[in-house]
Order: sequence, then C-alpha cells, then structure tokens
Amino acid sequence: MLVDIHNHILPGLDDGAQSMEEAILLATNAVANGVTHIIATPHHLNRKYTNSSAEVKEAVANLYRELFRENIPVKILPGQEIHLTANILDELDNNLLTLANSGKYILIELPNNHIPTNTLEVFYQIQLKGYIPIIAHPERNSVLRRNKQLLYEFVSKGALIQITASSLIGVNGRSLKKYTKVLIKHNLVHFISSDAHHYLERPFLLKKAYQYITKKFSKSHVTYYCENANHVIFGTEFQPLPPICFKKKSSNMN
Ligand SMILES: [Fe+2]
Repeated sequence: MLVDIHNHILPGLDDGAQSMEEAILLATNAVANGVTHIIATPHHLNRKYTNSSAEVKEAVANLYRELFRENIPVKILPGQEIHLTANILDELDNNLLTLANSGKYILIELPNNHIPTNTLEVFYQIQLKGYIPIIAHPERNSVLRRNKQLLYEFVSKGALIQITASSLIGVNGRSLKKYTKVLIKHNLVHFISSDAHHYLERPFLLKKAYQYITKKFSKSHVTYYCENANHVIFGTEFQPLPPICFKKKSSNMN
C-alpha cells in the first residue's frame, strides 16, 4: 500500500488536471510510482478556487469509474487542500473534507509570503475539535524558509508537516532541496507527497524521492513516511518522531 496525500488529479477543478484524459495520464504516472491510493486534494478557499466537499466527492466518483473502465489499478479518495482563511473554523464541521474523508487529518495550505498571526491559535482550535492539521509544503512559505524554529513550534504543538517530493530531489532548486533535507534531519517531516498537477510538468516523483531518502537517510525513514500516510487513510493517530529544536544551547558563561 502506497498512499499519496496531496495532489491535483481531479479534472477541471483547479490548476491540476484539466481534462479526464490528463487525469488518467496522471493516474498512470502514479501507478508507475508504485502508488496504490491517491487522496485527491483540489484547492479550496484560496482566492481562485472553491471546491465544496460535494463537488470533490462527485469528481472522485467520476474519475474512479473511468479508471476502473481503463483497468488502471489505483484507488481515488476525496480530500481538499484548504487555504488558511479567517473563516476556516466556521467551515470545519460542515463544509470541509478531512483527508480520505476519514475524519481526522486536514491538509492546510499557508500563504506563500507570510504567516497569519493567529495561526497557532487556529491550529489549536482545529485540534480541540478532534482534527490534526497537516501543513502542506512549508518549503513554499518564505517566512518558514527563514525561520525554521517557527515550524518547530507548530510541530511541537501538534501540527504535522508534508513536504513535496520534487522539492526534496532538487527539481525546485538547490535551496529547497537543502531546506527539506534539514527538516527531515530535525524530525519535522511526517509525509512526503507528490503535489502532482500534470503528468509531464509536475508528475508524481514519489519513487525517486523515496530512493533518495533511502540513500541519504535510511530505509526506515521511508517506512515511517509510508506508514504515516497509511494512518491518514484510516483516520488513525500515530506517534511522530520527537522534533529537534533549532535553537543553540546557551553558551557557557564561565
Ligand atoms: Fe497542492
């Protein structure tokens, strides 16, 4: 079982697959990467796209029917990549989809260039309601790139982190590759996923990412990330590795 928890495979809903044909090509690309379960996460509540849970579920059913017809062996499950907005807490119980609709994990996209001041409080409220926030690709946020300690604070307070396969293997530049490696070293990564949008331009790349992790870290890192993603499907909790702080120990005064 290999689960991808973040991608834009559903056709015509956002800037991902634009047609059923493209979605099928992307699904074929997922299968070539060993993926067995795709949690489709179209953008939601960002300035450009709104995709209600009903629309997502219908699109998932349509795509799954086509894949079954084409004999492509991958399961599609519903989800959303939810932009962190002021009304996210009001939307939570009624209109938002947890990943795989399993009632536990919520994929949250932060703005690219700032962190809203109430972010920690919102994450706290999300957890009070029984959900676990997963921060999508922190490497895309300029504040978190500069301030890794802030990411550590989020994780210490119960948030989980997803990084994108393409960032880790260097497709998005050397600095993101270096940054995501540092996050792994500090136990600040819980999921590797594709954020796939297009079968050629932004494909799955999970196989390469896991090969890279095996080489640079260990096979048990790969097992950890795969098992964590399995928990998302089932909506079960797991014990993350303890995050490692970035702050230097205070120097000896003597
Ligand atoms: Fe995404």
